[in-house]
Amino acid sequence: METSFLFIFSFLLLQRFGSSITATSSNVTCIEGERRSLLAIKHKITDRYNVLSTWSGVECCEWRGIGCDSRNGHVVKLDLRNPMSLEDLRNGPVSWEDEKWLEGELSPCLQNLKHLRYLDLSMNFLSGKIPEFLGSFESLEYLNLSGSVFGEGAVPHHLGNLSRLRYLDLRSIFIFDDGGANFPAPIVDDLRWVSSLSSLRYLDLSGITIGNHTDWFHPVNMLPSLLTLNLADTGITNIPSTQFVNFTFLNSLDLSMNYINSTIPIWLSNLTGLMHLNLKENSFHGKIPDFIGTFNALASIDLSYNSFKTLFPNLLCNLSSLVRLDISNNMFSGPVPSNLGLLLRLEYLNLGYNHLSGPIPASLGLFSKLKKLDVSGNSFVGVLSETHFTNLKNLIYLDLSLSSLALNFSSRWVPPFHLQKFSASSCSNIGPYFPNWLHTQTHLQRLDLSNSSIRGTLPEWFESILSHILYLDLSNNQIGGKMPLFHFNTSELISHETTLKMNSNKFEGSLAAFPSNVNHLDLSDNLLSGDLPQTVGTMNLSLHIVNLSKNRFTGNIPVDLCKVPSIEVLDLSQNKLSGRLPECLGNLSNLEAMDLSNNTIIGVVTHDIALAQQ
Ligand SMILES: *[C@@H]1O[C@H](CO)[C@@H](O)[C@H](O)[C@H]1NC(C)=O
Ligand SMILES: *[C@@H]1O[C@H](CO)[C@@H](O)[C@H](O)[C@H]1NC(C)=O
Ligand SMILES: *[C@@H]1O[C@H](CO)[C@@H](O)[C@H](O)[C@H]1NC(C)=O
Ligand SMILES: *[C@@H]1O[C@H](CO)[C@@H](O)[C@H](O)[C@H]1NC(C)=O
Ligand SMILES: *[C@@H]1O[C@H](CO)[C@@H](O)[C@H](O)[C@H]1NC(C)=O
Ligand SMILES: *[C@@H]1O[C@H](CO)[C@@H](O)[C@H](O)[C@H]1NC(C)=O
Ligand SMILES: *[C@@H]1O[C@H](CO)[C@@H](O)[C@H](O)[C@H]1NC(C)=O
Ligand SMILES: *[C@@H]1O[C@H](CO)[C@@H](O)[C@H](O)[C@H]1NC(C)=O
Ligand SMILES: *[C@@H]1O[C@H](CO)[C@@H](O)[C@H](O)[C@H]1NC(C)=O
Ligand SMILES: *[C@@H]1O[C@H](CO)[C@@H](O)[C@H](O)[C@H]1NC(C)=O
Ligand SMILES: *[C@@H]1O[C@H](CO)[C@@H](O)[C@H](O)[C@H]1NC(C)=O
Ligand SMILES: *[C@@H]1O[C@H](CO)[C@@H](O)[C@H](O)[C@H]1NC(C)=O
Repeated sequence: METSFLFIFSFLLLQRFGSSITATSSNVTCIEGERRSLLAIKHKITDRYNVLSTWSGVECCEWRGIGCDSRNGHVVKLDLRNPMSLEDLRNGPVSWEDEKWLEGELSPCLQNLKHLRYLDLSMNFLSGKIPEFLGSFESLEYLNLSGSVFGEGAVPHHLGNLSRLRYLDLRSIFIFDDGGANFPAPIVDDLRWVSSLSSLRYLDLSGITIGNHTDWFHPVNMLPSLLTLNLADTGITNIPSTQFVNFTFLNSLDLSMNYINSTIPIWLSNLTGLMHLNLKENSFHGKIPDFIGTFNALASIDLSYNSFKTLFPNLLCNLSSLVRLDISNNMFSGPVPSNLGLLLRLEYLNLGYNHLSGPIPASLGLFSKLKKLDVSGNSFVGVLSETHFTNLKNLIYLDLSLSSLALNFSSRWVPPFHLQKFSASSCSNIGPYFPNWLHTQTHLQRLDLSNSSIRGTLPEWFESILSHILYLDLSNNQIGGKMPLFHFNTSELISHETTLKMNSNKFEGSLAAFPSNVNHLDLSDNLLSGDLPQTVGTMNLSLHIVNLSKNRFTGNIPVDLCKVPSIEVLDLSQNKLSGRLPECLGNLSNLEAMDLSNNTIIGVVTHDIALAQQ
């Protein structure tokens, strides 16, 4: 299990549970029967990180994760949550050493803890089905099995007995092992049991398959206290249109990553306290109804990857609480209203991949909290000037790709922002010279200026903006001169793939050494010449993909390439290489593809090499 997992999920803002459970009093003696049940639970679990090391001795109320009722000593809280959070995983470097998960089976002895009010087993690796006996905890108010991957099988209807339950989080997370296979997630074939959870405020079934013929709406609509409803990635196909809606206090609705083909239902207009609306990746269509503009509490709206067409002109005017707006990958057309309103809290704006046209309103420059701006893949025209950016001191992500927007900054202008990602791929008006204002951007991790008609040589200061770079793509331009020396800096981000793409330019001169710390290297289709780097000292032991084809390299294929076992793809075709093919290339155990064609190399493709290429 110490492989790198890929967690694919959209997450909700966390809601803290306001527990009424009293702190452990040191004089409460734990009840012997319950203590033995806890030890039986420990016994069934593989605890390789010693999470349960305090679970010994008589005073079980003081063990890690246990809470007892101060009056009668009963165990009322069992919190074995692994502290790993989805946010950590999404936002950056994760040190797996810090993660402490439990593995194995949940002992049936758990059901002896009859007074449990709080049970959190989230983010562990528990096998078997969700046990039916969980339905017997009459006092349970909080049940969190999120990310705990309880094998396949149905969610037991017995959970419907938990009439005091206020929080039910069964979110399942796809976890891919190295082979790309995902662990099976539970399914729900009948949701009627949900309607008896009359105290429920929080329901998260995302990632659990709700059968296409299962009625999800009516059971949920029996829950008038519901505040959070998360049914992302459950496979649901329908959303009813003419219902009386009971859960009018809802503040978070997530129906993303489903198959809903519908307009936004009118009943949504009664959810006037809505703060988070996520309809991403469905087939919603039509217009965004006007009533959305009256939801004063809305903090985030994600309508991306749908088929919406009409942008209500004043939609955003009143949404002064909005922090995050994503309408990317729809079919919105026409200009963005010049009066965007006072979205003074906006941090994330994604308009990418629509048919929006006209200029970008200068009022954007007022959104001083803006961190991420994506206007790529539209038909915007005109110029982005200093005015657009005057107040955007928090901007870290700017994507202008596939547009004909131009940037007009004076040469003396010092941008108020430090971008981490700048994309201006396929921008017809960014060149013809390398943008000068970029010399101030020394925090860049990703820079993509591919296919943007850039000519000339790289500026002198170019290397000074690369100290944090992980992804650099300058391909498909007409940049000439000598290739700079690249030293990618992976010190802070072990888990990231680094990429350098300089292909299809006019770089010339020789390649003294392979750029260091790059995993994916593409220098093909340039005018590079001379010998390839020959010795291990000039090589880069983390190379996965190497493409040096369509250059003018001469000399031998370096034998020392055989000492770079990480190589998966090696393309040296269409050069002027000569000499013998090193047989030891067959020892490259990760090699999947190799192309040496159109050189004058002699030698036999040995059985080993042929095998390596299969
Ligand atoms: C359940 O646990 C997960 C992961 O530990 C956490 O992110 C989530 O907020 C919890 N759910 C509730 C309702 O507290
Ligand atoms: C625990 O018991 C000791 C002696 O019996 C007493 O002095 C102490 O105050 C008690 N502590 C609590 C928190 O009740
Ligand atoms: C709990 O629910 C199940 C299935 O819905 C039912 O068969 C069982 O009788 C219930 N148990 C209790 C104690 O209510
Ligand atoms: C449910 O319907 C969707 C779309 O119609 C389909 O792609 C999916 O395979 C169906 N799922 C099941 C479990 O039948
Ligand atoms: C609304 O909720 C109440 C209480 O659960 C229930 O009695 C009523 O039938 C529900 N209405 C609808 C339309 O589901
Ligand atoms: C929405 O609320 C209005 C007024 O409170 C009510 O008349 C209407 O029936 C509600 N509509 C739905 C779909 O619940
Ligand atoms: C949505 O439904 C309409 C009409 O029923 C159909 O024409 C369209 O192809 C559907 N869209 C998708 C993405 O399934
Ligand atoms: C904005 O709010 C005002 C006052 O509540 C309301 O009259 C107006 O219709 C709203 N505008 C939009 C576009 O929703
Ligand atoms: C660029 O900005 C300068 C100074 O602000 C201005 O004079 C010029 O007209 C602008 N050019 C374009 C194409 O907008
Ligand atoms: C290059 O950019 C142009 C627009 O400037 C675009 O039409 C073309 O598809 C892009 N080519 C590639 C390979 O991305
Ligand atoms: C690499 O990144 C680290 C951490 O941000 C930084 O301290 C170091 O100076 C960088 N190294 C280079 C060569 O820029
Ligand atoms: C090899 O060169 C010939 C002639 O220049 C060209 O037609 C052919 O496509 C090249 N083959 C490969 C694999 O690039």
